Amino acid sequence: MEIEKETQQNLPWVEKYRPSSLGELISHEHILRTLGKFLQEGTLPNLLFYGPPGTGKTSTIVALAKDLYKDEYNKLVLELNASDERGIDVIRDQIKSFASSMALTATQYTIFHSAISPSS
Ligand SMILES: Nc1ncnc2c1ncn2[C@@H]1O[C@H](COP(=O)(O)OP(=O)(O)O)[C@@H](O)[C@H]1O
Ligand SMILES: [Mg+2]
Repeated sequence: MEIEKETQQNLPWVEKYRPSSLGELISHEHILRTLGKFLQEGTLPNLLFYGPPGTGKTSTIVALAKDLYKDEYNKLVLELNASDERGIDVIRDQIKSFASSMALTATQYTIFHSAISPSS
């Protein structure tokens, strides 16, 4: 418990204050409305978010997955960072083993790969 509290306190602000539900996101009304429909239906299609850094790509998918999976978020979501986790070994090892470990326990799960946009 103490360790958890300390980890929370040491988080960078971008993580500490990241929106944790779709309702906390601002702007992108059209996208948020569409995602709200997926939430109502209880399912996610494959999604690709693109745009400049800091516009809410990571926050949006995290918020959506948290709204969808609630307390099971940590169990059902594998988050990868495309900047340093993009080789074939990541597919073979991390993604495959995550997906196969879910097969017996979950009807759905989410894998998302977060990338840093090239600056323009
Ligand atoms: N649409 C938004 N609504 C609310 N907060 C946002 C939004 N976009 C960005 N932020 C804030 O900026 C921070 C960085 O956004 P992030 O989702 O990591 O951007 P990206 O993944 O597009 O680079 C988030 O932690 C959040 O606090
Ligand atoms: Mg991001």
